[in-house]
Amino acid sequence: MRPTQAPFPAGRLRRLRRSAPLRALVRENTLTTDDLIWPVFVRDGEGVSEEVASMPGVLRRSVDLTVEAAAEAAALGIPAICLFPYTDPALKTGDCAEAWNPDNLCNRAIRAIRAEVPGIAIMTDIALDPYNINGHDGYVRDGEIVNDETVEALVKMALAQAGAGADILGPSDMMDGRIGAIRTALEAAGHRDVTIMSYAAKYASAFYGPFRDAVGASGALRGDKKTYQMDPANTDEALRLIERDLSEGADMVMVKPGLPYLDICRRVKEGFGAPTFAYQVSGEYAMIEAAAANGWIDGEAAMFESLLAFKRAGCDGILTYFAPRIARRLNVG
Ligand code: PBG
Repeated sequence: MRPTQAPFPAGRLRRLRRSAPLRALVRENTLTTDDLIWPVFVRDGEGVSEEVASMPGVLRRSVDLTVEAAAEAAALGIPAICLFPYTDPALKTGDCAEAWNPDNLCNRAIRAIRAEVPGIAIMTDIALDPYNINGHDGYVRDGEIVNDETVEALVKMALAQAGAGADILGPSDMMDGRIGAIRTALEAAGHRDVTIMSYAAKYASAFYGPFRDAVGASGALRGDKKTYQMDPANTDEALRLIERDLSEGADMVMVKPGLPYLDICRRVKEGFGAPTFAYQVSGEYAMIEAAAANGWIDGEAAMFESLLAFKRAGCDGILTYFAPRIARRLNVG
């Protein structure tokens, strides 16, 4: 229902835009630190950090520095951190066994954060790409990414992460049936309260490029991911995937990438009313940073505007590399 508008000049919509207090009073959406999940890249070593070339300001950190980053995030009021390992190429194999090694980089980081930073939820990524010699999220057999065999490996990976103390598991692989298989295995292993945020509507996107550099998968990747990630042309398929993953036991769902897919976020939130998240991916971050570095846009303002757009589209939260920066800004008010 639309409120009746008085015709001009009785109705002047600019009246409520006149001053900052009036604008604040009628603002429909707000971004808070509660909306943020911070994706971080973890590497081996101690006391080392390095910048990701295609993501200015984003670091790969050794476990000890990742713990410090998690503590900083918790102090800023960021509710969750999401870990992505940069795996030593020597540990990448055909069977991807490092993925479920209880002492792999990701699981070591989970345990270290768990022990030292109680105030933050730890999210992980479930997919084989950081451990796979060919850079794919699943096993490749005769040029095909095989589904069911991959799901078995993902289940082992999920159990290892849950065992290390992860709070939120993020299957990002787009195989069929993985949410149900992971949920069943978690129940059987006594991990009843471990949550799953399904990367349910994940598109085969050009915007993941810098991320693949960050985790060292771009050199390895052969071909593309179009036989498992979604066609950017589709909407209804996203809703079917979300419905399927919720019915298999996902607690939260995600749309990815973010800004180019806000129509999907809106439809998902309206269609299911489930906790809905979007991932503002590496390429989105890199575009804003590159334009800002050239003086072509105001980077701070673009960061704010881009994140608020997710709230307007109905998202409950956003995975964003801007998380600590925006949190610092939000905290000063
Ligand atoms: C791995 C994964 C990817 C991202 C998150 N998990 C890359 C991909 O699917 O190739 C992308 C994140 C980003 O671009 O910031 N399955």
